[in-house]
Amino acid sequence: MTIKIAPSILAGDYAHMGETVKKLQDNGADYVHCDVMDGNFVPPITFGAQMIEHIRPYTSLPLDCHLMVLDPVSRVEDFVRAGADIITVHAEACKDGLLGALKHIKSFGIKAGAVVNPETSEEALFSAAEIADMLLIMSVHPGWGGQKFITESLGKIERLRNYCVKIGRPGLDIEVDGGVTADNAASVRAAGANVIVAGSAVFRSANMRATIEALRGE
Ligand code: DX5
Ligand code: ZN
Repeated sequence: MTIKIAPSILAGDYAHMGETVKKLQDNGADYVHCDVMDGNFVPPITFGAQMIEHIRPYTSLPLDCHLMVLDPVSRVEDFVRAGADIITVHAEACKDGLLGALKHIKSFGIKAGAVVNPETSEEALFSAAEIADMLLIMSVHPGWGGQKFITESLGKIERLRNYCVKIGRPGLDIEVDGGVTADNAASVRAAGANVIVAGSAVFRSANMRATIEALRGE
């Protein structure tokens, strides 16, 4: 499977986010991971659809929007209009309507993702696996960059990949998010994740291109 690297702009320069995403593209990133936080689903507040609108002209890379927000369905259209290519919503925030949320996102002709927090079983994504374009396993508790990778995430990724194979979607994108570095990326890939989010590892690196390549296993 193609390994895709999605640096998270949570660790980027908020005063120069256009230049930040251009730099990511210039250094070989595959996606721009946009961590949207509402101060309710998670304590911090980061940015909303307007940030997506403003960075859109600076990159042709897919904008991979991770909505850490309550009632994400009500926010979808704003992010679609702003230029999001992928919108990922939390199973925990869509209590009884994850499939409906995914269908709503897909109705705009963009990709739909579903995500679970570390304390939520990967089984909460099994129904979504039938229609989602991407599944996301949080390998840190959402809200902050720079945290330590939760090693139990590897088993979740493996079980989720095995489930995708079982239902006849072996190539479904599985993204992992949080605490991934060049040191643990090989185990993340081996477990079955093929889309890797990295914030600190990319933005703290002295050589962004080399770090992105290392995360990809090159
Ligand atoms: C946390 C975010 C992650 C985080 C990753 O809520 O969803 O994307 O920014 O950052 P690092 O790679 O620094 O753990
Ligand atoms: Zn994220």
